[in-house]
Amino acid sequence: MKLSNSRKSALCAVMLAAIAATTPFAVAQFPRTQEPPKHYAWSDAAMSPDARADLVIKELTLEEKISLLHGQGMSFGQTGPTASNGGAGYSNAIPRVGIPAIQMADSAYGVTRGASSGRYSTALPNNLAAASSWDPEAAFEYGALIGRELRAQGYSMSLGGGVNLTREPRNGRTFEYQGEDPLLAGTLAGNFVKGVQSEHIIGDLKHYAVNDQESGRNAVNANIDKRSMRESDLLAFEIAFKISDVGAFMCSYNRVNGDFACENTYLLTDVLRKAFEFPGFVVSDWGGTHSTAKASHAGLDQEQPGKTFFGDALQDAVKSGDVSQAELDEHVHRILRTIFATGLFDHPVVKQVPDVERGFEIAQSIAEKSIVLLKNERGILPLDPAKFGSVVLIGGHADVGVLTGGGSAQVDPPGGSAVPPPPPGPNPMAAFMRVTWLPDSPLRALQAKFGAGKVSYVSGDDLAAAASAAKAANVAIVFAYTWESEGMDLKTLDLAAEQNKLIETVAAANPKTIVVLETGSPTTMPWVDKVAGVVEAWYPGIKGAEALANLLTGEVNPTGKLAVTFPLSDADLPHPTLVLPPPESQPRRPAPGEDISAFMANMAKGLPAFQTTYDEKLKVGYKWYDAEKKPVLFPFGFGLSYTTYAYSGLTVKGGEAVSVSFTLRNTGKRAGTEIAQVYASLPDSAGEPPKRLIGWARVDLAAGESKQVSVSVDQDRLKVYDEASDSWKLAPGSYNVMAGGSSQSLPLHQQLTLP
Ligand code: BGC
Repeated sequence: MKLSNSRKSALCAVMLAAIAATTPFAVAQFPRTQEPPKHYAWSDAAMSPDARADLVIKELTLEEKISLLHGQGMSFGQTGPTASNGGAGYSNAIPRVGIPAIQMADSAYGVTRGASSGRYSTALPNNLAAASSWDPEAAFEYGALIGRELRAQGYSMSLGGGVNLTREPRNGRTFEYQGEDPLLAGTLAGNFVKGVQSEHIIGDLKHYAVNDQESGRNAVNANIDKRSMRESDLLAFEIAFKISDVGAFMCSYNRVNGDFACENTYLLTDVLRKAFEFPGFVVSDWGGTHSTAKASHAGLDQEQPGKTFFGDALQDAVKSGDVSQAELDEHVHRILRTIFATGLFDHPVVKQVPDVERGFEIAQSIAEKSIVLLKNERGILPLDPAKFGSVVLIGGHADVGVLTGGGSAQVDPPGGSAVPPPPPGPNPMAAFMRVTWLPDSPLRALQAKFGAGKVSYVSGDDLAAAASAAKAANVAIVFAYTWESEGMDLKTLDLAAEQNKLIETVAAANPKTIVVLETGSPTTMPWVDKVAGVVEAWYPGIKGAEALANLLTGEVNPTGKLAVTFPLSDADLPHPTLVLPPPESQPRRPAPGEDISAFMANMAKGLPAFQTTYDEKLKVGYKWYDAEKKPVLFPFGFGLSYTTYAYSGLTVKGGEAVSVSFTLRNTGKRAGTEIAQVYASLPDSAGEPPKRLIGWARVDLAAGESKQVSVSVDQDRLKVYDEASDSWKLAPGSYNVMAGGSSQSLPLHQQLTLP
């Protein structure tokens, strides 16, 4: 019998419905992956990724090899006639040998650019927020969620994994990174990538390296000594790589000690290949490639998003012998072995509807671990809904949404921004840089706790109206914020003047004023003594309002601790003023519609360098304030809880792993989780800042409960990098091991002598 197409599909629908009706859980059992359709010599998953890659290489033509080493142009949002999945970039598939395309999407705190393709992605709390959980398991879950949503949307590689240390907290991408300590940042980024790759998606670590300011990022030359890099900035990458076996590193835009990061032999070969023994591939940041032979020799494997240097030019270089066949094969090998090692070849991507509910749950649970309680005078928090007749929320669009960080990391909100963004300006980056609010209303979340009639909102635009609303209410909660984005730096860590003014005005009208901050970097607080409570909510994600309401009302006990120091003022930073680029190093970007070829050619050639010098060296973050004896507003590792903890009985035993143990007691009336931290001062001969973090534990304690806590510290965490011998050494002598609740509250001390 012949059936028309419409009858065929009707029949299919009926058959599917029948199968669904008779097969319980038919949807849950639907496979998310499928076997590769054909069998090749390299299909055997029992072989090593390197052996499989070598078998493929033998089959490839020169053109096919080259096609793996570059992108296909900016492909944002383009699908259909191109092979792009609409992400930031992709490299071609080679169907003849079953090699899939690498479809890349930005995914720092969720999969980006959903709007242009009508796809939903979960917006998680931003990365620095999640780092305040100090929770490697949560970092894994965060990465695994992103991995699942990438796969569901047809992507095979994440461009997330930002792990630049916060040397410069005004960097507009501080919100995308994991804070100022290499052990904490590296551990969390490593677990994030491990989570991504558990879904057979290629993970990456970026931006390698010392890409610490956005102003003039394509031109700036970061001057920094090798020891400071190895012990700080590069150590974060090293720890993350060792934990995750990440598939790719993204080299950054800037120069480091003279050479662009994407053609920097020290970074890409001496450190990455030789010292770290990284077997995966190096992809350039978008437009960060500046040469063919030089970049290839230095260790760059793939140019993105175009092929100015690694397309025909690379092919010519191979033909002329400027780049050897062996070097070419090495680049190809690194990409292919990563496709095998991450399981992408064996588990081809199959699109699916993302699990929105699960995304919500994970986003909220991570937000609840990320929000940091900074001040709680006379126990104003938690707010008991039974006791308070009226609460007013003031400012920060708290009636409709929570803020997000912008740039290539921007996750598009379901239904669009809760606050309509201003029309994009003439800057072509403007489309990336629109202040975006997730539609998750703190007002509604708090009304659900207190009763709708008890919680109101005023915008704060009118100071007199804000003051009278605050006076009339039992409690006033001011929502203040700083928007942050790739493509710009903050001029200052201060809130906008009108926001400081609003807080001062409200606090003068009602002593029961609480400030909720939505920021991506530390903030100064000239008003801190005048308010009763301060809560750092960061950019808390799509369920941030519910998480915040749970913390404010005490349904959840806060556990988050700062992964960055909050200084008293910009003047206390290692560099009180940011070095800005001269005009020739930051030329005017062409407006939309203007010809961009001259601008792009200029960028590719390399904009004239300007210098920034990280002469604070090893003194990153808390190490700076410790060494310079500068008081801070809130120290690294600080965060309050609704209960209290007591530390006692420290013992420290040396060995390959140093074992640190102590007793931790919950001295309050409710259960809590304490992030107990261990630091060490090295012997003077080591020439180190006063102390460094060497380990921590998250400890759950019921009210009144005591636990013996053990933290095992790898001896590597006590070593210093010796540039002369290019090796890590233990300084002989006496180490002071300390434990406590923050970098400045370390009641326990114990000496450890190492030979
Ligand atoms: C950013 C990267 C991003 C890439 C692709 C660049 O401008 O620096 O972090 O992954 O664009 O969107």
